[in-house]
Amino acid sequence: MGHAAALARLTLRRGRGLVGVNIGANKDSEDRLADYVTGLTAFAAVADYVTVNISSPNTPGLRALQSRGELADLVGRLNDARAHAARRVPMLVKIAPDLRDDELEDIVAVCGGGAVDGLIVSNTTLSRPPLASPHRDEAGGLSGSPLFQLSTRVLARVYLLSEGRIPLVGAGGVSDAETAWLKIRAGASLVQLYSALIYRGPKLVGEILDGLTKRLKARRLASLAQAVGGDARELAHQGLSGT
Ligand SMILES: Cc1cc2nc3c(=O)[nH]c(=O)nc-3n(C[C@H](O)[C@H](O)[C@H](O)COP(=O)(O)O)c2cc1C
Repeated sequence: MGHAAALARLTLRRGRGLVGVNIGANKDSEDRLADYVTGLTAFAAVADYVTVNISSPNTPGLRALQSRGELADLVGRLNDARAHAARRVPMLVKIAPDLRDDELEDIVAVCGGGAVDGLIVSNTTLSRPPLASPHRDEAGGLSGSPLFQLSTRVLARVYLLSEGRIPLVGAGGVSDAETAWLKIRAGASLVQLYSALIYRGPKLVGEILDGLTKRLKARRLASLAQAVGGDARELAHQGLSGT
């Protein structure tokens, strides 16, 4: 739904910067995979990359697409569509932070070997880390700082499972230069943030870039690529009881 309106706006766009288009399936769809194919095909010409969102907590059953068989079908269908689309648009699969190691292994097996261009780790969590807010028991996905530790741990695990071979985008609770740096140390080549922009506004991005530059200089590193995954082993276990 909404493809035509979004497409019209993107087609008229004159701005600079990268545009990622996030695609999903309709709640009442009879063929969810077909919805993704339609989305990718519609936006292939105007998107710098497409995010395949299989981790929204708001569409019942959608997260089942993260299971090995369903994900293999979806990625296969989307790769066929990419081959026939206006251009081979880069495609990143976005996963939940609530997955067990065996489920992460399946995702890495399906998405490795160039089947997709990257993984985004992660979407919001259905779990509830300790929260002080009176709204803590409300339903839905939790984002922002309380998501940081869980999503960073899963990011580090995916990095280790994939042996650094799948480009990873770190998301979940990035709110300053230090949290962005830890995503990179956990294995992210790119970082995304959403919730923190509500509290800090767009100027936060410049602050994060300054802080990352300082960290590189202090460690005498020539580029962020040299920092990717450097602390993955430690971060893969952070916050787990007994470690
Ligand atoms: C209100 C809200 C709406 C969101 N909508 C989407 C969405 O449509 N597709 C998607 O892939 N992720 C969606 N997300 C997840 C965010 O893109 C992001 O992955 C997540 O919030 C973790 O990052 P953050 O802690 O910086 O917010 C949404 C998050 C929030 C809070």
